[in-house]
Amino acid sequence: MQNFVYHNPTRIVFGKNSIRHLRDLIPQGKKILLIYGGGSIFRNGVYDQVKTALSQAEVFEFGGIEANPLYETLMKAVKLVKEKGIDFLLSVGGGSVLDGTKFIAAAACLPDGADAWGILTGETPIHSALPLASVLTLPATGSESNPNSVISRKETDEKRSFASDHVYPVFSILDPESTYSLPQKQVRNGLVDSYVHTMEQYLTYPSAAPLQDRFAESLLLTIIETAPQALMDPPIYDARAGYMWCATMALNTLIGRGVPQDWATHGIGHELTAFYGLDHAETLAIVEPSLMRHQAARKREKLLQYASRVWGLDTKDEDAAIEAAIQKTEAFYHSIGMPTRLQDYGIDADVAARRIEERFAARGTRLGEHSAIDAAAAGEIIRMAA
Ligand code: NZQ
Ligand code: ZN
Repeated sequence: MQNFVYHNPTRIVFGKNSIRHLRDLIPQGKKILLIYGGGSIFRNGVYDQVKTALSQAEVFEFGGIEANPLYETLMKAVKLVKEKGIDFLLSVGGGSVLDGTKFIAAAACLPDGADAWGILTGETPIHSALPLASVLTLPATGSESNPNSVISRKETDEKRSFASDHVYPVFSILDPESTYSLPQKQVRNGLVDSYVHTMEQYLTYPSAAPLQDRFAESLLLTIIETAPQALMDPPIYDARAGYMWCATMALNTLIGRGVPQDWATHGIGHELTAFYGLDHAETLAIVEPSLMRHQAARKREKLLQYASRVWGLDTKDEDAAIEAAIQKTEAFYHSIGMPTRLQDYGIDADVAARRIEERFAARGTRLGEHSAIDAAAAGEIIRMAA
């Protein structure tokens, strides 16, 4: 097992009717900015619950954060924060609103003249951020208790991420009933995103970390078991609660402590969103199976462990077991309505591969637990997902 530090400072408040606890959690005497997306919180009653709980607080509002939050929009919020002297940010919505809030929190504390986009390229260091918290309405990203944020830029068709301990939410409220208004497509997306987050921290090479392996396998098995019920309409409370907690645990940094991590599926997937506008999880379901096939030699031992422990496959014929495990993964995605091929979206794999190769070559990108996936390998993976 590798050395590690584990410190997750986010307080999670989980369960039915938990939004009312905002009243006690929100710090006194702060100017709060309530940040939201395209309006789902008005239609499902979450906005009203939040406003009731904050009736004693001084609250400003900023709405219109897009799915795959845009830098251009977020900079308008940064301006508002500075003008009004806001000193606490509350994200109400899904991962995009929360990631946007993390960016606003960091950008608002930059010294005058600093390049805010540099936060995403790594050129502008983050020394502080405004405190932030969340009311989460879409289980998927784990952003509610992690230090990560993914931001898109319209002007350049880019999608980049940053991580900073300064942007862990102080607290996150997770009420499974707030997910009842989600379209099926978003539940499906959240299930696949959580599954792939787990895989990115599991499917690498053995590192003598048996507990982390079992954590990851329990998450994968629970997601597979829970998925059909989580998609049911009318919603089943316990299935939504189980799904919501899996999504948090899959990326709250716990299962990745002390083990190698991959993240190449995400790295390549972000480019498919940047160039073609696919939902985040849609890109993962396209890239991951091809990446497993492409990297099968390097991931051999963990693929066999995955085949045996998650899918219960006989691994005597190793190559057959690995291919069967990949096919089981694809079949799971299909069973919840998630396509796994570029052609399902009418995207020409050759064109997509060339665009990604060009960009990765220019950036000198190398992905994966061995840094073995360079521009050419990423192109091969994309062509395999035609
Ligand atoms: O904008 P509104 O109107 O709120 O609607 C949203 C949006 O259209 C809607 N929605 C959210 N909660 C709802 C709801 N609709 C009805 N009822 C509810 N309860 O769902 C749509 C998608 O929301 P979004 O926040 O974009 O989805 P998600 O939570 O999947 O976030 C995706 C973003 O997170 C990034 C992705 O790249 C993408 O930009 N990620 C962030 C990570 C992190 N911070 O650690 C890790 C992930 O790997 C991921 O990259
Ligand atoms: Zn993800």
